[in-house]
Amino acid sequence: MEKILVLDFGGQYNQLIARRVRDMSVYAEILPYTTPLEKIKEGGYCGIIFTGGPNSVDDESSPHYTRDILSLGVPVLGICYGCQLIAWMERGKVTTAPVSEYGKIPLTLAKKSALFDGVPEKSTVWMSHTDYIERVPDGFDVTGTTPDCPCAAMENEGAGIYAVQFHPEVTHTEYGLRILHNFLYLICGCHGDWAMDDFIERTVASLRTRVGDKKVVLGLSGGVDSSVAAGLLSRAVGKQLTCVFVDQGLMRKNEGDFVEHTFTTMFDMNFIRVDAKEHFMRALAGVTDPEEKRRIIGREFYRVFWDEIRKNGSGGFFAQGTIYPDCIESGKGDAAVIKTHHNRVDIPNDMSFDGIIEPLSELFKDEVRAVGEKLGIPSELVWRQPFPGPGLGVRIIGEVTEEKVRILQDADAIFREEMKNTGYEKELSQFFAVLPGIRSVGVMGDHRTYEQLIVLRAVTTDDFMTADWAKIPYDLLARVSNRITNEVAGVNRVVYDITSKPPATVEWE
Ligand code: XMP
Repeated sequence: MEKILVLDFGGQYNQLIARRVRDMSVYAEILPYTTPLEKIKEGGYCGIIFTGGPNSVDDESSPHYTRDILSLGVPVLGICYGCQLIAWMERGKVTTAPVSEYGKIPLTLAKKSALFDGVPEKSTVWMSHTDYIERVPDGFDVTGTTPDCPCAAMENEGAGIYAVQFHPEVTHTEYGLRILHNFLYLICGCHGDWAMDDFIERTVASLRTRVGDKKVVLGLSGGVDSSVAAGLLSRAVGKQLTCVFVDQGLMRKNEGDFVEHTFTTMFDMNFIRVDAKEHFMRALAGVTDPEEKRRIIGREFYRVFWDEIRKNGSGGFFAQGTIYPDCIESGKGDAAVIKTHHNRVDIPNDMSFDGIIEPLSELFKDEVRAVGEKLGIPSELVWRQPFPGPGLGVRIIGEVTEEKVRILQDADAIFREEMKNTGYEKELSQFFAVLPGIRSVGVMGDHRTYEQLIVLRAVTTDDFMTADWAKIPYDLLARVSNRITNEVAGVNRVVYDITSKPPATVEWE
């Protein structure tokens, strides 16, 4: 399989670069700049992309790489910091620019180049830099300029080394995709052999070989990743797969039944639903502190889960829906290599398996969704919004009781139904109801009421690190409010959360 290496120097768009490459049907993987050259040589890459990063190349402590990487005979494309790094490695001069460039800047091409094939002489690019290349290294030609950057692009065609000061991977660069496409197909000679159909076939075949006649156990949460992993494994090994679905009683209305129905009717596997609602209600009784609730839900989840797995005995394989962003070792611009495995489960000491299977560990989220759709997993699961592990437990403020779960599930279901019916759900990244556990006075007929408050929360965001509250049309909010107060017993008031993140978070706990 053709592979492109994205060598990570700590820039914020590294995953975006890899995703863009994959969208062009070429597999890309991200490795930190601390990866030894030997390992890169063994990788058999068709091309290498140096990413951006926040540092200055002249600073001793900045991320650097041995110059030998430029003479492997593998084409290299440097982006932003990666561009300056190439100039520095090849003994050009990089220094603080008299004028920093940030945002959309006009680029003028200076010379014919395969990298810019099909790109007009003048176009707009996205810049974000304070240093620039003052003197181009020997053997390099300037291929593009901007008003404040005499070298916005350069290349040593004979050596297969290309560099751009701007970011071709972001949408603000008008011909960015064309430039990346040129690098892959005209310069690296890729043919484009990365496709989701092939991925499914290849993965199913290799899972069959690896699993043989052994059994596989998978924890199914009803989230996108574990659902798609279950679909793939089911196709590969059928009844040798057992999925364990722990129902904490804290999912959205009817969601547990939907997950069970989907996997028992559409897929060949053993499906175990552990109804642990009462167990969780007991464990949460009287607990009001948000962190304590999270701890209890997490601890009890694994207790119930592993108790169920133990019934099946050790041996065989343990499967997880870990996806690529969970596995990336990122350089993050400093010497320490940070490893994030937050979605990986710790296996208890008394359990042993023949191995761990992570069939989605090469895929980004959108690729996971594409695989899910091809496997026929319903769109409610494939396009499911993020849902916190502790479920409604963190959307009920204060103590969790069965009655509060019922009220919240009913109110949330109405909110979702109305958003779906109007098609407005497509505009939003996430929306849900919260039960803050506050009662307020109302009037119904001639009677005074003193009942629960429901909060509606809806946000738009690219990455969930920051988020805007969504400007939902008033008539839609009015309909949701009317329906909730009329149809959900125990609720007499509905409010809408108009706080962005920061200062608030998306969830209330
Ligand atoms: P916050 O509330 O931190 O949430 O702004 C950001 C995103 O993360 C989701 N979230 C969680 N997801 N386990 C998860 O898998 C959790 O404990 C958890 N808490 C928050 C949240 O729904 C939002 O999309």
